[in-house]
Order: sequence, then C-alpha cells, then structure tokens
Amino acid sequence: MVDPEILFGVSGSVPSCGFSVLPTPLHLLPVLTDLYGTRLWCKRDDMTGFAFGGNKSRKLDYLIRDAMERGCDSIVTFGSVQSNWCRIASAAAAVKGLDAYLILSGSEPVVPGGNLLLDRLVGASVEFTESEKESEILDLCSRQIEKLRNDGGNPYFMAVGGSDNIGSTGYIKAMGEIISYGNERGVDFSRIFVASGSAGTQAGLVAGKLISGWQGDITGVSVARQAVEQREKVSAIAAALLRFHNYEFAREEVEKAVIVDDNYLGAGYRVNTPECEEAVTRFARSEGVFLDYVYTGKAAAALLDYSARGAFAREEDTLFIHTGGAIQLFE
Ligand SMILES: Cc1ncc(COP(=O)(O)O)c(C=O)c1O
Repeated sequence: MVDPEILFGVSGSVPSCGFSVLPTPLHLLPVLTDLYGTRLWCKRDDMTGFAFGGNKSRKLDYLIRDAMERGCDSIVTFGSVQSNWCRIASAAAAVKGLDAYLILSGSEPVVPGGNLLLDRLVGASVEFTESEKESEILDLCSRQIEKLRNDGGNPYFMAVGGSDNIGSTGYIKAMGEIISYGNERGVDFSRIFVASGSAGTQAGLVAGKLISGWQGDITGVSVARQAVEQREKVSAIAAALLRFHNYEFAREEVEKAVIVDDNYLGAGYRVNTPECEEAVTRFARSEGVFLDYVYTGKAAAALLDYSARGAFAREEDTLFIHTGGAIQLFE
C-alpha cells in the first residue's frame, strides 16, 4: 500500500494560508458509472471552499503566504477576462490585506459578469489588453510592478495559473488526499483525468506520484496547446518542483509519468467543441455536477469518450478531478 504521509510531509514543509477546506470531497459518479459500465469517480476540487473554489485555491494557499513572508503589499498577475485564477488570486489577496493588480486579456465587457464581476467585488484593480501575446502581457505586468515599486510598494508577481514550485505544491497535497482516500476505502484508482492548462496542477500530481511511488496513470487533457508542447511544459514544471523539494529524478523518469491527450482541444483554448458541450450537459443532467466549457468540460469529454470506447475495464476505478470553473457559465 502506498503511504500518502510522505506527500503531506512534503507539502506541509511549505507554509500555507490554509484558505482551502481540505480534503475536498471524493465520490462515485453513480449514474455515469451505470451508463458506461466502469467505475467513474470525481474529486471535487470545485469545492475547495474559498472564493467559489477550484484548483487555484490550493495553489494560492501557498503563494499568498509566500508573498506575505516576503513582506509584499500587493500582487500582480494576469489571465483572460474570465480567468478563474485571477478571481481566486484577488480574493486571497484581499483577505490578507494585499492589493491585487490584474492584467486581463480581452476587451472590457459593457456589463461585467462571471469572474470579472467577482474580481471587482473583492476590489482588484483591473487593466485590459487586447493582446493575447504572453511577452506583451508580461511587459504590462513589468510596467505595473515598476510603477508600484516607484511608489514605494513591494509587489509580488504571480506566474499565470500559479504554476510554479510554490503553487504546484498544492497538487502534491491533492495526490496525498487521493491516495489516502483509496487506502481508507479500499479503492484502487488506476487512472486520473484532469484538465491541463498552465500545467501546474498536472505537474503537482506527477510529482506526488513519483515521490510516493503511486502506480496509476495521470492523463492531462490539454486545453490550450498541442500534446508535445504541453508535455514539455508539464515535465519542466514537475522536474523543477521535484528539485525544489529535494527529490532527484532522471528527466526521462519524469517525462514517462507525463501523459497528455490533446484530442479534445478542438480549435484551441476557450473554443468550445461539440464533445465538450455534450460532456457538460451530461454531467449536469446525470450527476447534478456543473462543469465549464474551457477546462473541465474538455477533460470530461475525454473521460466519457475513453469510457464509451471501452478503454477502462468494468472493475477499474477512474478518477476525474473537477478543477472548478463553473462560474464561466455566468459569463
Ligand atoms: C477550472 C480550471 N481547471 C483547470 C485549469 C488548469 O489548471 P493548470 O493551469 O494548473 O493546468 C484551470 C486553469 O486556469 C482552471 O481554471
């Protein structure tokens, strides 16, 4: 039996604000299990209990604490106008008395809805840019940081999605929760399906797998780029994360643990697909679980397609991680 304690030790070595209410619930998806004839489970990281929940709150537990320990008085970060990341980051900053400066790509809507409404509710300062180019957006972040410094402030920059060593540590802990649940209930999860974007969520899970020796597969369903590029991104973050926690793994070993499927990406990031639409509808009507059309809907499309194609045995236990994002439905 794999021991999850090592993962709680590793994640516990990084100070946390503890915003997230953990462990998140994990349950069988009974209707989908009956429908597809294979056991499908869901870990409810949409229910992390902070700022409407989602995978980013696990990362911000650590990142905001890091900002505070460095004596910072504000955060600067970026995302799309409907960024889940920016919503939770600005709420976490507000709770700890830090100002939040967001650079959002996309045009300013006449009536703000969804995540943008919540960014404003928690008092974030928002700047819009029509640019989607990361280099240009990073330039805008640098300018904001310089301005704050010139005014005597001490800003903390956060990489998009919080996918760095500090933030991704949150998913080492999540891997511990999954192993712990399996051990306590006698459930042997053989696969995990999760949406993979800025890559820190999958990288944290992969690091957790390697550190603990858990034998299952972790499939990241790419929501933003081709598999080769996404695999490289996840591997790089996982390798750095392992080093950060003083674990030495050969690059090939890390790469072997990184499985990425881009068959559900469609035309690209934030572009819906019929399979995603169908998966969101099916989860809502079968299980009363609301997904979104950017991240979890695409990951669920993969899960349901693999299930329909008989990729999982009847007695297999497959875990879908619901990483949040349903606020997008109110965009
Ligand atoms: C709801 C949701 N799920 C999944 C992801 C992807 O997580 P990561 O960026 O860590 O790959 C995101 C990222 O923004 C998200 O908002």
